Amino acid sequence: MNTRRKLIAGNWKMHGSHSANAELLAGIVAARPFACDVAVCPPFPYLSETAVTLAGSELRWGAQDCSMHKQGAYTGEVSAGMLAEFGCRYVIVGHSERRALHAESDQVVAEKAQAALGAGVTPIVCVGETLAQREAGETAAVVKRQLSVVIHTLAHCASEMVVAYEPVWAIGTGLSATPQQAQEVHQLLRAQLLAATPHAARMKILYGGSVKADNSGPLFAQPDIDGALVGGASLKAADFVAICRAAG
Ligand code: 13P
Repeated sequence: MNTRRKLIAGNWKMHGSHSANAELLAGIVAARPFACDVAVCPPFPYLSETAVTLAGSELRWGAQDCSMHKQGAYTGEVSAGMLAEFGCRYVIVGHSERRALHAESDQVVAEKAQAALGAGVTPIVCVGETLAQREAGETAAVVKRQLSVVIHTLAHCASEMVVAYEPVWAIGTGLSATPQQAQEVHQLLRAQLLAATPHAARMKILYGGSVKADNSGPLFAQPDIDGALVGGASLKAADFVAICRAAG
């Protein structure tokens, strides 16, 4: 276990409703306080009610994506500045589902991260290899390439992002990376950050991919794993709270 304060962020993806969200947030609020930072990332329409529910608590909220543009004729997009107005502390950028389903390039992801920082919102930048890439021995090259574009674009601000390693083959499959597999990649990413910024030692690198209460402890015990980006298990308060407890 390292000394960086852990962050557990729930990525609700396209799940939720007024009633389901109220129950989920109430369950998380009731379990406070936590010994780690805790954030939820609901779909855009629910940010406002999430902000109202969590206002005044130390719990944080974020969004799942933002535009790389500040404003303009970009139908359907949401700017980082708008997220900041709703009190978003974080925004996930470069999730593999967006890279795959919306053809987001490394450069677009980097510019979204830059837009987020420009608005005062911390980007959680996702990187990760597919199963085919892992099997071809390309994991290190893929994640390094994805991160290097972001580091280059953010330049001296790179130390202000959170990085999330999410192996695509572990997302929603129940197949989590082993703590050793994850640590190996986190160590690589930390080394890459160290080469780019003197502040890398305090930066958070989260793991994501089928994180559950029962597999999170050994992941969090790794020296370069600073928390988790949780999908499915963030939708039930008891499961999410158990992961937060494992991080404390
Ligand atoms: P699961 O936890 O459902 O595997 O999803 C991980 C993820 O994609 C978080 O961003």
